Amino acid sequence: MISVVVKNVVKETRDIVRLVLGSEDGGALPFFEAGAHIDVHLPSGLIRQYSLCRLSVEAQYYEIAVLKDAHSRGGSAEVHQLKIGDILFISAPKNHFALVDGGSRHSVLIAGGIGVTPLLPMAQQLRHLGQSFEFHYCGRTSETAAFTAALKNGSFADNMHFHFSQEAESGRMEVSRVLSGQAEGAVLYICGPASFIEEVLQQARALGWPEDCLHREFFSAPALNEHREGNDAFQIKIHSTGEILHVAADESMFEVLDKHGVFVPVSCESGVCGSCQTGVVSGVPDHRDVFLTDKEHQAGKLVMPCCSRALTPVLELDL
Ligand code: FES
Repeated sequence: MISVVVKNVVKETRDIVRLVLGSEDGGALPFFEAGAHIDVHLPSGLIRQYSLCRLSVEAQYYEIAVLKDAHSRGGSAEVHQLKIGDILFISAPKNHFALVDGGSRHSVLIAGGIGVTPLLPMAQQLRHLGQSFEFHYCGRTSETAAFTAALKNGSFADNMHFHFSQEAESGRMEVSRVLSGQAEGAVLYICGPASFIEEVLQQARALGWPEDCLHREFFSAPALNEHREGNDAFQIKIHSTGEILHVAADESMFEVLDKHGVFVPVSCESGVCGSCQTGVVSGVPDHRDVFLTDKEHQAGKLVMPCCSRALTPVLELDL
């Protein structure tokens, strides 16, 4: 873990705050690539993932931007209380949302609201590399959307398309128009609320976009994981010891493993971050995460014990 100090707190909009984090000793922080995020360990013990929202000009700073979410489980509200000088622990940057082929194929970046955060450094990098891209930013109004002024006036202003649903001159994004007629090999990168991502991906698939050209980053899991009613109990088998553990309908695999002293690293506990990824030796997982790809879900060789369950009476884990 890396210890950082909150160097600055900037109110980007009424509900979005940007934090500038710097190393305690003023030294350089680990290098990161566009699309990367960090785990932020909040003072309460909560761990949350936030995208690094700007390529660093100076290597000793990271920036994150956080929306105060009315449905927050506590993380975003806590971030909004942080002050200059507070100390935080963060992970080294991780990247599950990197530019494909160094961004050499035409990139279509689509941001929904605060989903702009990982896409902003991608646009900076694509501009820097001189690669072809277009950046669609969707939100309700320019006032509630972070970084609007910077994007309108920045180095890639010509690549920007604003779609503010409550502003007559821009209006809601016509998804099919944006996705139709793109050059062969174009790659879509999308980040935003789960329902927004699903809607755009569905249209992309309907228009014939190949699956390996669709890249998405969820910043919260769909509601799917939050409802425990209707779940069935099942058993997990620990491959290395043969031990069988019972997972009740209202428990997660992670809770049961933790209770029995079987260590699995967790972070988001909602199927978003990938920290708890575990191999499956036998049985069929009931995937509830948004981290693994559709292909990986179908293959059934990996599972996220923080949120996923089992479709078979026993799920044998490679632990
Ligand atoms: Fe994040 Fe399981 S802890 S996916």
